[in-house]
Amino acid sequence: MMSALHRFRYSGISGEKKIMKKLGLIVVVFALLVSIPMIWVETAEAKEVVCFESRKGSSEVTQRKIGEDLLNVKCSPTTGAVLWWGDPFDGTVPMGVMPIDADYTHGEAVVKPRSKKMTLLSICGVACHNGTYPPLPKNKKPRKLTMHKDLVPDSLSLQHGRGGIWCLDCHNAKKRNKFIDNFGGEISFDQPQKLCGKCHGPVYRDWREGIHGKRIGEWASDGKKRWFVCTECHNPHDVQQGARNRGFKQLVPEPAPKLPKGLKNANHERHKTKAGH
Ligand code: HEC
Ligand code: HEC
Ligand code: HEC
Repeated sequence: MMSALHRFRYSGISGEKKIMKKLGLIVVVFALLVSIPMIWVETAEAKEVVCFESRKGSSEVTQRKIGEDLLNVKCSPTTGAVLWWGDPFDGTVPMGVMPIDADYTHGEAVVKPRSKKMTLLSICGVACHNGTYPPLPKNKKPRKLTMHKDLVPDSLSLQHGRGGIWCLDCHNAKKRNKFIDNFGGEISFDQPQKLCGKCHGPVYRDWREGIHGKRIGEWASDGKKRWFVCTECHNPHDVQQGARNRGFKQLVPEPAPKLPKGLKNANHERHKTKAGH
C-alpha cells in the first residue's frame, strides 16, 4: 500500500486524486464488509433471551430454535423463569448408576449435568488443590478462608447445617473435582443427590420416589423423564437462604391470569354477590 502511494505521489495531482478515490472506495467497501456481520451479531445478541429453570443464577438456559417453529424453552417475561419446554430432554445425560432401585429405575431417567455449570471444576484439582499449594487439609475443622468468598462470604459461619458441617463433609479433600461419600468414596458433581442423600435420608427417599423435587417428560411410569437434581433447586452453600431460614429461595410468582372477556373480577363463582356474572 505504502509503495503504491509512493509511486503515485510523483505522477501528478490528477493521479493522486484518482488513487485517493480508489482508496476511498476500497475503504468504504472494506468498512461495509466488516460492519455488516457486526450489525448482524449485535442484533442477534440483543434478541438473546436467557431464562432460568429452577434456581436463578445456577440453572440458566438460552432460548434457541430446536426445530421449525419450535423453541427449546418459553420464558416468562415477568419472572424470567422457564414456563414450558419444547424438548424436556434437551442437554440431558443418563442419570448414571444409582445404588438403590427406585422410581427412576422404572423408566429412562436423565438429568442435566451440573458439571457443565461449574466454572472452577476443570481446574480446581490441577491448578490449585493439587497437594502442593495450598497443602491438603489435615482435618475437617472449619477455618477462615481467603478464597471462594463469592460462594461462602464467611466460612466460619457456613449457613448450611448452622455450623454443624464443613466444606470437607461434602467436597473430597484429596480430589477436588469430586464429592465424598460416607465411606471416603467419590461422588460425581453430576450426581449431587448421592451427596445430599447421605445426610438427608427422608427427603432423599421422597426424591427417589418422585415425591420431592421435580420431573418433566413422559407421563407413563415407564416413560422417559428428566429428573431435577437437588442442586438445581437448593444452593448447597446457603440452603437456609439467610433471613428466610428455609431451604428454598422463593420465586417471584407469576401474575394472575387475565379475566375472560366480560368479567370484572375473579369473584364469579360466588353467585350471591353482584360480582362476575
Ligand atoms: C452440603 C455440602 C457442601 C458443603 C458443606 C460445601 N459445598 Fe461447595 N459445593 C457443593 C455442591 C453440591 C456443589 C455443586 C453446586 C451445583 O451443582 O450448583 C459445590 C460447589 C462448590 C464449588 C465450585 C463452584 C464452581 O462454580 O465451580 C466450590 C469452589 C465450592 N463448592 C467451595 C466450597 C467451600 C469453600 C466450602 C466450605 C466453606 C463448601 N464448598 C462447602 C456442596 C457443598
Ligand atoms: C454432612 C451432612 C449434610 C450434607 C452432605 C448435606 N446436608 Fe443439608 N443440612 C445438614 C444439616 C445438619 C442441616 C441443618 C438441619 C437443621 O438445622 O435442622 C441441613 C439443612 C439443609 C436444608 C435446610 C432445611 C431447612 O429448612 O432449614 C436444606 C434445604 C438442605 N440441607 C439441603 C441439602 C442439599 C441440597 C444437599 C446436597 C447438596 C445437602 N443438604 C447436603 C447436613 C447436610
Ligand atoms: C424442583 C426443586 C427441588 C428439588 C429438585 C429438590 N428440592 Fe428440596 N425443596 C424444594 C422446595 C420448594 C422445598 C420447600 C422449601 C420451603 O419450605 O421453603 C424443599 C425443601 C427441602 C428440605 C427441607 C425440608 C423440610 O422439611 O424442612 C430439604 C432438607 C431438601 N429440600 C433437600 C433436598 C434434597 C436432598 C434434594 C435432592 C435429593 C432436593 N431437596 C431436591 C425444592 C426442591
